[in-house]
Amino acid sequence: MLAGKHIILGICGGIAAYKSVYLLRLFVKAGAEVQVVITPAGKEFITPVTLSSLSGKPVISEFFTANTGSWNSHVDLGLWADAMVIAPATASTIGKMANGIADNMLVTTYLSAKAPVFIAPAMDLDMFAHPSTQRNLQLLREYGNHIIEPASGELASHLVGKGRMEEPENILKAVEEFFAQGQDLAGLKIMVTAGPTREKIDPVRYIGNYSSGKMGYAIAEECAVRGAEVTLISGPVSIKARHHRINVVYVESAQEMHDAAVSAFPGCDAAVMCAAVADYAVENYAAHKIKREHDEVPVIRLRKNPDIAAALGAMKRKGQLLVGFALETDNGVANATEKLHRKHLDFIVLNSPNEPGAGFMTDTNRVTIIDRDGASREYELKDKRLVARDIIDVMKEMME
Ligand code: CTP
Repeated sequence: MLAGKHIILGICGGIAAYKSVYLLRLFVKAGAEVQVVITPAGKEFITPVTLSSLSGKPVISEFFTANTGSWNSHVDLGLWADAMVIAPATASTIGKMANGIADNMLVTTYLSAKAPVFIAPAMDLDMFAHPSTQRNLQLLREYGNHIIEPASGELASHLVGKGRMEEPENILKAVEEFFAQGQDLAGLKIMVTAGPTREKIDPVRYIGNYSSGKMGYAIAEECAVRGAEVTLISGPVSIKARHHRINVVYVESAQEMHDAAVSAFPGCDAAVMCAAVADYAVENYAAHKIKREHDEVPVIRLRKNPDIAAALGAMKRKGQLLVGFALETDNGVANATEKLHRKHLDFIVLNSPNEPGAGFMTDTNRVTIIDRDGASREYELKDKRLVARDIIDVMKEMME
């Protein structure tokens, strides 16, 4: 289950750090590639030499390597990881993680990580039971992290209670179980189009639209986190794709997006068409900047752009799945259903730009999914990342 997986093992300063050595051994034996990141206090409990010998990689603790001056990039590490496991997690690190206090490499890496994060607390019983620790753990749970509850037993203080770090075998099991269920798209290749397109008027001007790309990027990330290899064909946006299984192809015009999509689709199992593609391109593109003083008021003539979703619908093989979006101001269900059939989509995601919190430029969306049988599922207004999960759940269900 863990063969070839990239795991960041975060170690904090607690007595249970000795058990992290064994956990590291278990990960390596299971075939994972492990990068240890240790807090300064962690090094008081366990030596980096032991950890680097077992992991085969230098242990990271500081932002800079003193003798070479090289910089350890928490951002690159965050992208490299398939999972981050913090064991033991002390009350102090848990507090920093919950509140974004990025004063060491471990917490900074946590804040940059896109992968699932597992936290195995270890501390004295009173520290664990303290409302401040419990509140921080609750916050971390709400952020979507996995808390591996400590066990009860004799603690380093010789007091007996809840606070012992879970045994390494059980931490390994929790991570393996997550991968067993969480990687339901492993082996699949998925293409996503996202963002707006730009149609050039002259060398400095274009026709565009307000699409932020957030919905498409959220879908690409959801697919990648669940194990798929993703080709993200993106128009110009200000956000970045943040997962090592996402390969971004940047395009500008609808024609370029069409060409990239038509060439990638045959190698894919599914495509999700999220881009807000300009319907028209400029026919009389001016090779020189249009001048206000000298030129007549310009007339921009338009020609139709190719319909990318329809082109893929026409070339779709048996077993390939094609998903489209419909942004409708009026007659939503009727218009979306018409598009679903015209473009040979398997299902369409309807959203409305009129509704507060839905459509372009927001972090949230409210969608209705309509399939070829006319069945529709309505969803609540939610974060685009959770909307992406709903859409991909439906996609997965239809692929089975
Ligand atoms: N789409 C596409 N290529 C286009 C236009 C649209 O791939 N040239 C895709 C969109 O990504 C979306 C779906 O088709 O998945 C519907 O897009 P929409 O703009 O709602 O539909 P249009 O076909 O452009 O219809 P209209 O503008 O008349 O609503």
